[in-house]
Amino acid sequence: MMNDKQVFKQDYAINKEQRNALNGHYSLVVWFTGLSGSGKSTLANEIEIELNKREIRTYILDGDNLRKGLNKDLSFSDNDRKENIRRVAEVSKILMDAGTVVLSAFITPFENDRELIKLLIGSDHFIEIFVDCPLEVCEKRDTKGLYEKARNGEILNFTGISSAYEIPKQPNLTINTSVNSVADCTEQILNCILKKILMHE
Ligand code: ADX
Repeated sequence: MMNDKQVFKQDYAINKEQRNALNGHYSLVVWFTGLSGSGKSTLANEIEIELNKREIRTYILDGDNLRKGLNKDLSFSDNDRKENIRRVAEVSKILMDAGTVVLSAFITPFENDRELIKLLIGSDHFIEIFVDCPLEVCEKRDTKGLYEKARNGEILNFTGISSAYEIPKQPNLTINTSVNSVADCTEQILNCILKKILMHE
């Protein structure tokens, strides 16, 4: 455990406000939560394309990619999921401080962890998007073939099957990907983001 008397916070001359001024937009963490296959990464990708067109600095963090590197020591137990989310929330905060609009796509199944992320980032710089899609639809899509494996018992602790997903209590936005098109979902999220990040003289 780190000793608070041994480690001191360093202050630097250039801060987030100056980086934001240089970029011409505010930075933000956009957090996508939802079941595997609900459309989190698809939407993050579409949003990044739209933001990129508008010369806004972005970065996508997602569960599958980060679990191949930074978080490759973590499993899908409840505790390791918490640690996964804690680390990626810290990374999101750093990227936001660096001036980026961070698109974080993680199942994030527990309400308590989502509350901690909001506390860490600060609600002014944070949008929680619940990517709502019924389990049956996610399972039918089964883009990675994981639901079938989970049903066969080849994968344990699978979210929605053998591990819990707690419905978000107060997301900033709920997007239903089983009824709306990708284009419609993207537009809704984009409007919400642009309201937060555009600077007005
Ligand atoms: S989280 O629960 O800790 O937030 P995260 O978003 O990082 O999960 O990773 C989810 C991705 O890992 C899924 O999209 C899926 O491809 C893969 N995966 C592998 N095993 C599991 C599992 N047991 N439960 C959920 N997703 C899993």
